[in-house]
Amino acid sequence: MALWGGRFSTGPDEAFKQFNDSLPFDYQLAEQDIIGSVAWAGALEQVNVLSNDEHKELVSALYELLEEVKADPMAVATSGAEDIHSHVEAALIEKVGDLAKKLHTGRSRNDQVATDFRLWCRDTADHILKAIAQLKAEFVALAERELGTILPGYTHLQRAQPVLFSHWCMAYVEMLERDESRLQDAKARMNYCPLGSGALAGTAYPIDRQTLAQGLGFTGATKNSLDGVSDRDFVVELLSCASISMIHLSRMSEDLIFYNSGEAGFIELADNVTSGSSLMPQKKNPDALELIRGKTGRVFGAFSAMMMTLKALPLAYNKDMQEDKEGIFDAMPTWLACIHMAQACIKGVKVKGERTLAAAKGGHANATELADYLVAKGVPFREGHHIVGVLVQLAISEDKTLEELSLEQYKSVNDVFEDDVYPVLEIDACIKARQAVGGTSIEQVTSAIKAAKKKQQIT
Ligand code: ARG
Repeated sequence: MALWGGRFSTGPDEAFKQFNDSLPFDYQLAEQDIIGSVAWAGALEQVNVLSNDEHKELVSALYELLEEVKADPMAVATSGAEDIHSHVEAALIEKVGDLAKKLHTGRSRNDQVATDFRLWCRDTADHILKAIAQLKAEFVALAERELGTILPGYTHLQRAQPVLFSHWCMAYVEMLERDESRLQDAKARMNYCPLGSGALAGTAYPIDRQTLAQGLGFTGATKNSLDGVSDRDFVVELLSCASISMIHLSRMSEDLIFYNSGEAGFIELADNVTSGSSLMPQKKNPDALELIRGKTGRVFGAFSAMMMTLKALPLAYNKDMQEDKEGIFDAMPTWLACIHMAQACIKGVKVKGERTLAAAKGGHANATELADYLVAKGVPFREGHHIVGVLVQLAISEDKTLEELSLEQYKSVNDVFEDDVYPVLEIDACIKARQAVGGTSIEQVTSAIKAAKKKQQIT
């Protein structure tokens, strides 16, 4: 039975019904809709719309229904009702008859859907937060395992300066911590309850909205009914959190795909996250990482679609808003799966320390050290930079590293050079020099690992 129809002389076209119905996707809000209905029944009892006995009967039928939808969510999707709210009401009528028809007193599907959806977003954010914490821990474990492994650091994808492999790991821990804190912020802002806003103007019953909100685990009630039913900032914020986090995961994927390439050969991905080619027997492809990179576009697509849907929508509720669900219903599980998959990839990474070290030693990545050496000898940095440039050119022309040039060759460019230049050029010295906060020295990276582990224990 539809929730409306009295003022219509004919029913909807089949095509219109299909176009209009949201149950095929909003069945996913079944649990939230029932929990919200239990809370609303409580509020109605408080204002004597429901007697004590009626309230009891309704609530126990709602809990029965909750068990049923948990056991078989897909059965809900195909019941033929217009949306999840109509479905729950119809199912309740089947259980308790006319009493169920009292439940919608003072309530609208507009404040109902806004409430259900906030509950869903809040639960989903919790799953994501847990997964991010696990991924962070995996990165920290890898950083501890590989402490001391030296990796070429890149800018412009040109070898720039050597860094610790663990420093690379901890860079992603930083990003994940920001993802976490952004999500916490979004969660705090979304945690206000629109139930009791009615269709748009507020409810005409003297409901204690604060108590109602707190009963559902919200911080409080939303403060304006027009905004309460039409605000979807929480969807936009969650999708924005997802998009930014996916950007991080896609950059991680790209780094690892490159490190895993035959050309770099810095790591080997585990068999359990790679796949083969149907034609080329030698192939072991980084599919998991490529899919994470690829799915980033899809998640961002959901974010931009939501922004476009909301643009210029007049207050308050409009049916356009029903378009708020499918994107995020796809994006959130996608994000979660990507975090889990990233964790599986990181867990199985085998670092080939000799290859990374050899690459870090190449490409004249210690040239900055040489400029700093000149600074220590009293040469202004800009001048030192030029002198080192000339030396790099000389080394390239002789196909040598900077440390392979003779002291005579150094002196031919500038006679400030002495024998003490050679220790400065050693790769360990390059790493050791980066002692300032955030640098790649073992001490700094170790303290970053320690700080991350301490946070892990707290959360
Ligand atoms: N299925 C609708 C949605 O998802 C529920 C709200 C319907 N409200 C209405 N006034 N038709 O937005």
